[in-house]
Amino acid sequence: MRAAVIERPGTPVRIEDLRVDDPREGEVSVRMLASGVCHSDLHVRDGDWERPGPIVLGHEGAGVVESVGPGVSSPRVGDLVALTWYAPCLRCAACQTGRQWGCSDSPSVRHRMADGTTRLHRDDGADVLAYLSIGTFAETQVVPATAAIPMPDGTPPEVAALIGCCVSTGVGAVTKTAGVESGSSVVVFGLGGVGLSAVMGAVLAGAARIVAVDRVAAKLDVARDLGATHCVQAGDNRQETRAAIVDATNGGPDYAFEAIGLAATIEQAIDVLPPGGTAVLVGLTPFGVRASFDVFPFVDGSRRILGSNYGFAVASVDFPRYAELQLAGRLPIERLVDRRIDLDGIEDAFDRMRRGEGLRSVVTFGA
Ligand code: APR
Ligand code: ZN
Repeated sequence: MRAAVIERPGTPVRIEDLRVDDPREGEVSVRMLASGVCHSDLHVRDGDWERPGPIVLGHEGAGVVESVGPGVSSPRVGDLVALTWYAPCLRCAACQTGRQWGCSDSPSVRHRMADGTTRLHRDDGADVLAYLSIGTFAETQVVPATAAIPMPDGTPPEVAALIGCCVSTGVGAVTKTAGVESGSSVVVFGLGGVGLSAVMGAVLAGAARIVAVDRVAAKLDVARDLGATHCVQAGDNRQETRAAIVDATNGGPDYAFEAIGLAATIEQAIDVLPPGGTAVLVGLTPFGVRASFDVFPFVDGSRRILGSNYGFAVASVDFPRYAELQLAGRLPIERLVDRRIDLDGIEDAFDRMRRGEGLRSVVTFGA
């Protein structure tokens, strides 16, 4: 089985042949069909985040269930599944109160199965981990059954894959974390897979003004096609960018979404808010990054800052819903894919992402 492995964070991806064990209790084996390349993979690749190794990268994938371990009633063999990168334990207080995105005992943070072992091995017997317990840059994976969510008939595999990360993160930040009301004004900083999903979420929520901000002009055109009403190309002059956003939203947006993970744009998302406005921080920074804001006007104007991890996703409920919206033409997720690659193309896709070039690259398997 071929997979894209890094020895440790900060080292390049290498394609290796690995052995995969059969699924054990509570696990399923998935033949991968599609896996998006997300900026969080790049954070690990570039050493921004500490992670154990060697590890198979990739966490935005979908495939077909090939076999199931003992005790698994869902999914079933033959199901198309989207994989969640935060498998819920279903037992902790967060899971039991419907906040599975806040699960306190997810195996995913250990990059292993729930019993603490891994199903991937090199020929010499050495263990290889799977990023977030799903490591989707692999032809086959064994994953926790709670990570594999059956999708509605007819869902395109690429769409299912993107629902597994950027779509749930961006759409959910708007519709679930923020609960954007129809008629409100929204600004989105950063138009990668996550930010463009936030734009689609704002359209779905009925936002009246949707201001898209990126430093790359081509991204603004895509955002406009998806329903952004105003576009602002961010340059080096922060005051000019701020003035354009305030102007487009009649004094500042009700909601500002930051989908890049940079201190400067996080501070700007807070800075553009009018009294009563809400900044929603979606982009993940390298470890240790700090941001600051002027406290008196923030409190005086009753502003809010929310953190949104994974768009508050409850995968078993939200993933099929997002797929149904796509099938009904109301969430054009398919438009985020602009390049199909094989495993050998991942390093090149990372380079494009560093340059802010293009939309989602998707690894397709067995094509
Ligand atoms: N100002 C405006 N736009 C910027 C700036 C900036 N200073 N810097 C980068 N951008 C834009 C890029 O041009 C690109 O369009 O931000 C976008 C980031 O998109 P991707 O790299 O494709 O990232 P994505 O996968 O969408 O993830 C965004 O969310 O989950 C996290 O770890 C992830 O931190 C990352 C963020
Ligand atoms: Zn991701």
